[in-house]
Amino acid sequence: MAGNAVGLGNFLRFPTLAAQNGGGAFLIPYLVSFVLMGIPLLWVEWAIGRHGGQFGHHSAPGMFDRLGGARWLKYVGVFGLFTNLAVAAYYCYIESWTLAYVWHSIAGTFRSADPAAFRAQFLGIHAGSLVAAPGEALFWFLLTLGLNVWILSRGLVRGIELVAKIGMPLLLVFGAVLAIRGLTLSPGRDPGVVASPLAGLDFVWRPQLSGLASPTTWLAAAGQISFTLSVGMGSIHCYAAYVRRDQDIALNAASSGWLNEFVEVVLGGSIVIPIATAFLGLEGVRALAGGVDSYSLGFVTAPSLFAAMGWFAPVAGALWFGLLFFAGITSSLAMGQPVMAFLEDELGVRRSRAALVFGAATLGLGLVCVFFYGSGAFGEFDYWTGTFALVVFALLEAIVFSAIFGIDRGWEEITRGADMRVPRLFRFVIRFVTPAFIAVIFVGSLVQPAGEWGVAARSLASGHGWPLAPDSVIGRVLHVGATAGGRSPLVQDFTRLLLLALFAGCAFLVWLAWRRKRAELP
Ligand code: PHE
Repeated sequence: MAGNAVGLGNFLRFPTLAAQNGGGAFLIPYLVSFVLMGIPLLWVEWAIGRHGGQFGHHSAPGMFDRLGGARWLKYVGVFGLFTNLAVAAYYCYIESWTLAYVWHSIAGTFRSADPAAFRAQFLGIHAGSLVAAPGEALFWFLLTLGLNVWILSRGLVRGIELVAKIGMPLLLVFGAVLAIRGLTLSPGRDPGVVASPLAGLDFVWRPQLSGLASPTTWLAAAGQISFTLSVGMGSIHCYAAYVRRDQDIALNAASSGWLNEFVEVVLGGSIVIPIATAFLGLEGVRALAGGVDSYSLGFVTAPSLFAAMGWFAPVAGALWFGLLFFAGITSSLAMGQPVMAFLEDELGVRRSRAALVFGAATLGLGLVCVFFYGSGAFGEFDYWTGTFALVVFALLEAIVFSAIFGIDRGWEEITRGADMRVPRLFRFVIRFVTPAFIAVIFVGSLVQPAGEWGVAARSLASGHGWPLAPDSVIGRVLHVGATAGGRSPLVQDFTRLLLLALFAGCAFLVWLAWRRKRAELP
């Protein structure tokens, strides 16, 4: 479960979001979201998963089918297939970069090549062209997918569990070495260092109340909590389904959640930002985070900063990208397993074949991200599946759990066999606070205004209308505002249709599976 949660989100997404949202100002909404939404959803998802597992269901559709009598419930579970597949498609692409960059760090590529130019060439992006022409990136993508399929096909214990047992400790060691090296950089002694890396820690960790009043910061914080804990995906449910009926879930859910937060806030916060602060100064970090996509901090800034570390450069690169690779693969496997489990449990597909189906589907969808990376497909996948769908599924499951399954049964399910006393307050939180919290976040993201909320409200009151932000849900659908550099509305619309078709396809498979089941009943 820790391997599932600890992923690229912890080391790439978190530092970038924190820097974009004012460092310590991000922290309080982030931690409040963790307690009011993250932890409760973990408990809900572990409970739904272990409950469904008793009936032989290890993927969301069958689990939701068992939460009540209504036939439509299993279709809520479609999210648990759709999101995993679609996120896996672009996530495995990023994961494949990390593998490639381990190689290039060791081979010394970044000694001569400028990381920004290297990245553009690697991804095959040319300004003014809709379609990318990746050469090398494609090779690494295929290799990464092949690895995932192979590991998944070996089964839970000999596959996922083994990789997690090796990868997780290594990742922690790599992270600790990098953090120590980064934090001991000193302006007087090390060439190129202009500021104390501790100023970077101070920036990320000193809590600032200013973030509390900004709905945009809340949106970003809550979105990050869902992504990093892997909630709202159907992935936690799947792993929890392999737990026995009376085995603890309460303490395990909480401890894997806290472990993830430790790795994210403590380790994730102690690497790129302090190192970047040391070499660029705090202002440099702020400027960088404001303007770039979420991946340049890790794939452009980091290697160019490492290059200033002399003999340590290849080591730092191998540790950093190695860490990212282990974080990534233990998470992409967690996206594959629910899909595999669905094919095996509900459609009777053999394990090795199920792994191949997952690989083929991820390849097909992933190629869209590979070839239309710069023109918008990648960004659309990231937003609609890695942000939007999570919130929708989280809201639905929170409601289904307490209103349809029933909070009494739900609470019994969470606490049965528990190795900790779950504070009773959380019964109330799960029932009312969490769904309300997610609903507010959801509505907020629908209509997020360009600029300040207060200014937008005054504009509406004075009859000048509501200035929609281009990155609000409605703003995106309507293509409000100018399209950001290189993005094509056509590619974006095509990607959205593709994702809709994928959702419909998953729903069709669920329908088919249940029709077959009914036909097989005596
Ligand atoms: N939690 C993972 C991360 O932080 C991403 C993930 C999402 C993994 C959904 C599995 C399922 O990168």
